[in-house]
Amino acid sequence: MIKNICCIGAGYVGGPTMAIIAQKCPGIKVTVVDLNEKRIADWNDPNVDNIPIYEPGLSAIVAEARGRNLFFSTEVDKAIDEAEMIFISVNTPTKTYGVGKGMAADLKYIELCARQIARVAKTDKIVVEKSTLPVRTASAIKSILDHTGNGVKFQILSNPEFLAEGTAVEDLLAPDRVLIGGDSNEDGQKAIQSLVNIYANWVPKEQILTTNVWSSELSKLTANAFLAQRVSSINAMSELCEKTGADVNEVARAIGMDSRIGSKFLKSSVGFGGSCFQKDILNLVYIAKSYGLNEVADYWEQVIIMNDHQKRRFAKNIIKTLYNTVSGKKIAFLGWAFKKDTNDTRESAAIYVADDLLAEQANVVVFDPKVNENQIYYDLNYLESRAEEENKKGLTVSTDPYAACKDAHAIAILTEWDEFKTYDWQKIYNQMQKPAFVFDGRNLLNKKELEQIGFVYQAIGS
Ligand code: NAD
Ligand code: UGA
Repeated sequence: MIKNICCIGAGYVGGPTMAIIAQKCPGIKVTVVDLNEKRIADWNDPNVDNIPIYEPGLSAIVAEARGRNLFFSTEVDKAIDEAEMIFISVNTPTKTYGVGKGMAADLKYIELCARQIARVAKTDKIVVEKSTLPVRTASAIKSILDHTGNGVKFQILSNPEFLAEGTAVEDLLAPDRVLIGGDSNEDGQKAIQSLVNIYANWVPKEQILTTNVWSSELSKLTANAFLAQRVSSINAMSELCEKTGADVNEVARAIGMDSRIGSKFLKSSVGFGGSCFQKDILNLVYIAKSYGLNEVADYWEQVIIMNDHQKRRFAKNIIKTLYNTVSGKKIAFLGWAFKKDTNDTRESAAIYVADDLLAEQANVVVFDPKVNENQIYYDLNYLESRAEEENKKGLTVSTDPYAACKDAHAIAILTEWDEFKTYDWQKIYNQMQKPAFVFDGRNLLNKKELEQIGFVYQAIGS
């Protein structure tokens, strides 16, 4: 029976996942460690509303378990030493240098964890890959552990995470499935069983799937590729809808009622964002290419090409509709996060739309209910399209949606926050330049209502 767990990486996955394990398994001590001192300090903030990740329902769970059997710490060695099972939940971003630049997953953080575990471990450990990894990474981890370790035994499991941000708590409490990959030998099967036993505290046994390690690793990349592909597929149709008078919402509804297709993930948008879809597909493309499977690689790469096109054409359409010039015009952004109910902005479509509009000298004013000013400038500066002072001049951040929209020529809806639907749109209209445009990148608002007020309203795909 596992009594002590360590998780390396206190991010969007490590934090929430371990909070749920701690809540559901009060007999297990769970320590989440990270090199980032500020992040750990925030997880330990006495005011539980200040934890670094916003997810509905998460702060209450942290409040319940923290200090009882859930701990956040920067003492990585100590936590590794004490644990019987170690989850690796560090980031695996796209490589920005060297071979595979712009495509392959950068595994340096994973390798550092493996080396640290090997150095510190004095007793047998089960090492669990929680991060999303290229297929066959477990063999690299095993090689490092076995060759640099102190002679103790390691079992490597793959246990990819399928939670989506904004619904992390729901997804963790009632997952569609939990996937655990491990070796087929006796020790491997024992390790699998000890992880199954942890999840079995709240997940029905028939939803805990066990496979070999490679299937588990590859299933995670495959799941994200399929999900992103659906978004790109409906987005491809959205452009055709705009040309033909079809309405993408009606098309999505009509095809979604076919039980073979299903209704989820058919919402047309300004493009998918988030830290994972693009990075995982690029990684898949890279893996396929490295095996010489060029047709496979090209097939999946098209999902990214379509997504980039969708973001670009949204910005282009704003410029074209505003009489081919946005220079000096105020354009209000409602939303900056990559989806509602999260403060995560990684790869958000809003960043790229803002970048394109700033290149045309627009004055962009952003309001997002959960994203702060520093983050917005960080995202924009990261693109290195222009000097940081230029970004500060061209884009400002408002904490009041009505002020953000006042005197604007156009409003762009970039995130589907529910609160946008409840705004006083008549009041917003009255304070805008005329004609007042709304470009709805999320199909969020009510077309009829807005047109009755006087807005020129355009939604993706209709
Ligand atoms: P994140 O960047 O939010 O968190 C990773 C954390 O790991 C950071 O706080 C970083 O400081 C820490 N870290 C890196 N190297 C370390 C080391 N050597 N020692 C200690 N700490 C270290 O990343 P995330 O969003 O939680 O994603 C983690 C992994 O999970 C990725 O592989 C991602 O693809 C995968 N994933 C993410 C999501 C999601 O919704 N974000 C969902 C499923 C899977
Ligand atoms: C996604 C997957 O859904 C998770 O299963 C997976 O664990 C995670 O990636 C990961 O590996 O990181 P996430 O990126 O948090 O989760 O959020 P999604 O709900 O998948 O949304 C991704 C993007 O697609 C968002 O920008 C969203 O607005 C967009 N989207 C989603 C659409 O444009 N249309 C849709 O119908 C659905």
